[in-house]
Amino acid sequence: MPGSGRSVREIARRGAALGALALAACGGGPGERAMAEGARLTGGDPHRAPAELRRYGCNTCHTIPGVPGADGRVGPPLTGIAGRAYIGGVLTNTPANLVHWIVDPPAVDSQTAMPRTGISPDEARDVAAYLYSLR
Ligand code: HEC
Repeated sequence: MPGSGRSVREIARRGAALGALALAACGGGPGERAMAEGARLTGGDPHRAPAELRRYGCNTCHTIPGVPGADGRVGPPLTGIAGRAYIGGVLTNTPANLVHWIVDPPAVDSQTAMPRTGISPDEARDVAAYLYSLR
C-alpha cells in the first residue's frame, strides 16, 4: 500500500511526542531556577523538602508534584500554591504565613481539617521553599 511507510513513521512520531508529554506531566518537580527563587523567598532549602513532606505525612493528604507517592486527595493539591491569594482560604499568602500555617494550621483556623504534624519551623521553611517553586 503506497504511503504506508510514511504513516508508520507518523505514528512513531506521535507516540514519541505523547511519551514526552506523559513524562512532563508525571515528573512535575520544580527546576533548579524555581527552587532558587523558593529559597530566596523563604530562607529554606527546597532540596530537603521531598523527604520532609513524606516524613510528616503531607503526601498522604496532598498531591505534590515531584514527590513520589504524594497523591493524597484529602486536602487540596499543592500545585500552584505560589499563585494563590489565601492559604487555607483564610491567611494572606506570604512566606511567613505559609510557614506558620504548615507548622500549626489549627492556630490559624480552629475549624481546619489539617492537623499539626509536628514539623519544625526550620523544616516548614524548607517545605515552603519547595511549594513556592511549584508553578
Ligand atoms: C490529615 C490530612 C492532612 C495532612 C497530613 C496535611 N494536610 Fe495540608 N491540608 C489538609 C486540608 C484538609 C487542607 C485544607 C484546609 C483548609 O482549607 O482549612 C490543607 C491545606 C494545606 C495548605 C493550604 C492549601 C491552600 O490551597 O490553601 C497547605 C500549604 C498545606 N495544607 C500543606 C501541608 C503540608 C506541608 C503538610 C505536611 C507538613 C500537610 N499539609 C499535611 C490536610 C492535610
